[in-house]
Amino acid sequence: MTANVPEYSYIQLTEIDDEFRRDPHSRLDELRSKCPAMRVPSTNRIFITSYKDVRETLESKDHSRDWRNAESTDPARLAFEAINAYTAEEFGPHPPMAFRDHPDHTRVRKVIATAIQGQLPRARSLVEPVVEAALNRLDGSRAVDIVSEYSYHIPLKVVGELFAIPKESLGDFQEWSYSLFAAFNPVADDEQIRARIEAQLNLLRLFRNLADERRLRPGDDLMTDIVALQKNGAEISDDEIAHNALLVALGGHQTTTDFISSAVYYLLRNPDQLTAIQNDHGLWPSAIEEALRFAPPLTQLDRIATTAGNVRDCPFAPGDIIATSIFAANNDADVFHDPHSFDIRRKPNHHMSFGRGAHACPGAALGRLEGRTAVSKLFDRFPKLRLAEPDAAPNWRVTPSFRGLAHLQIAL
Ligand code: HEM
Repeated sequence: MTANVPEYSYIQLTEIDDEFRRDPHSRLDELRSKCPAMRVPSTNRIFITSYKDVRETLESKDHSRDWRNAESTDPARLAFEAINAYTAEEFGPHPPMAFRDHPDHTRVRKVIATAIQGQLPRARSLVEPVVEAALNRLDGSRAVDIVSEYSYHIPLKVVGELFAIPKESLGDFQEWSYSLFAAFNPVADDEQIRARIEAQLNLLRLFRNLADERRLRPGDDLMTDIVALQKNGAEISDDEIAHNALLVALGGHQTTTDFISSAVYYLLRNPDQLTAIQNDHGLWPSAIEEALRFAPPLTQLDRIATTAGNVRDCPFAPGDIIATSIFAANNDADVFHDPHSFDIRRKPNHHMSFGRGAHACPGAALGRLEGRTAVSKLFDRFPKLRLAEPDAAPNWRVTPSFRGLAHLQIAL
């Protein structure tokens, strides 16, 4: 490493760090220009920041998502295995597809992605009523926290409707889903961690029971489609169905919630652009892409090297972790003109907020639909919406690799 390149610790490059949460791009831009592939001091992690390298890494077939390929002492592997051990006895040793490689990943993903794709027409009719119900909850006479009082109420409800989770289980489903995410907090206490394990087991049981129920009484929902594919010969075990239904529920929940809140925030921070959209609704699709680029709900994706190689002049060995910064890639001036300006007309806008390669988000179309419906209808219903505390710094949550607002006070 050259003398003028700062040696940021891993923490300093995540949302755990106060300064990084407040101003991620000073550090990311500096790294991209001085050392686009940096070995994080005293770790087996390489942190990469250029669009080209991030894209090539995510598209590479030589890198893995299976934590068993990481060093046996790696903290992320140990944490993952500790939690997996609790569910293995009842739901088998295999984690959801997000943590598996070809050929198992390909086999399972085919079923799940086909079922999600098949549900899109139904999802289109589900999203609007969920958004309308969330809007009706808002009391226009006072400032509201748009995160807890609006965004929060949309994606999880959509997931519940997508799977047609029975009414009597919806409360549990929501509570367990929140508990599961709460423990992503790096300062989670023992009670939160216990609650997470409990919640994970409860959700797996809920999805296993749901699959059994839909085999007996098919409906028009996502689980019915998954078990029908299995019945018609698709290779997916019952345990894999439970694990991957849970992955879809989680994957579709926090990311989309954060996306809605961040999009509202950046539109309010750029009133001239908001006015332009309000005068021309045809700008919504590109505005939504820009919000995704500007505030990626997942800021960093890890890959595990399975062969020796190098990114630029930085060598890696099998077991090393290549941390790809989506946030940095989305702000690479070689690809995006004036990247730190929020530009709702930006075209092209090939951001990487839904990932790339084999694991790229299979829920992207639904995430976009929910985001666009939730944000556009909010501004339609409350055209005078404004930040209640315009001088306050945004309150970003302390969750590594997830960028989302903890709260956002809005006057309606
Ligand atoms: C704005 C909303 C969303 C964002 C930003 C987002 C982002 C992402 C990203 C970046 C990945 C790739 C992770 C990696 O490569 O390591 C991913 C994977 C995934 N997402 Fe999404 N997602 C969103 C919404 C959704 C929705 C609505 C669903 C479900 C319907 C969903 C289900 C999944 C699943 C199942 C995976 C794992 C795919 C695999 O491993 O093959 N996501 N998502």
